[in-house]
Amino acid sequence: MSKLALLLLTATLLHAQQPKTYGFGKPATADQIAAANITVFPDGTGLPAGSGNAAKGAKIFEVRCVLCHGNKGAGKEGRYPALVGGQGSLGTGKPKKTVGSYWPYATTVWDFIHRAMPFNQPGSLPPNDVYSLTAYILFLNGIIPENAELNAQSLPQVKMPNRDGFVRAKH
Ligand code: HEC
Repeated sequence: MSKLALLLLTATLLHAQQPKTYGFGKPATADQIAAANITVFPDGTGLPAGSGNAAKGAKIFEVRCVLCHGNKGAGKEGRYPALVGGQGSLGTGKPKKTVGSYWPYATTVWDFIHRAMPFNQPGSLPPNDVYSLTAYILFLNGIIPENAELNAQSLPQVKMPNRDGFVRAKH
């Protein structure tokens, strides 16, 4: 038997001997699946009950976000991203991509803050706080009025400035 044939035969036998299960781990419970299933889609699917506004968001921002993102979301050059500004800059030689100028869906702001912020304590913000922080950041960007109340119905209605800026590449 050639060396190659022997190698192939060994590989086939090893494959046939693989067990169907590995005998460890256990099925995830419904609660565990629900806890990990936090995606919010552009149309708002997945948004939980709750609400918030910019005034409340400003207070939470002072405690939990300002350290990194700076006063009114100005950011810290080269370290922490600005959350405000850049509208009208995307088509120029110096595009400034922020949540306000670049992100096409307001619901993604909610999803991202909820899953990933504060950077050092992700997942620690309750839904009402996330609605308020989202409202504050959208207000700072001039996208919603200061007194707008955001919830699972109103947030998906917010139209972001760059909503139509993403186009399919032509081949
Ligand atoms: C310890 C520092 C830190 C704190 C505190 C923090 N962030 Fe962030 N934030 C970051 C970093 C770093 C990034 C960039 C993460 C990345 O690109 O993966 C970021 C990114 C973001 C973005 C996306 C910006 C973009 O354009 O990509 C948003 C929105 C945001 N943070 C909101 C918040 C809010 C709201 C809070 C307060 C609840 C907060 N962050 C607290 C460090 C922080």
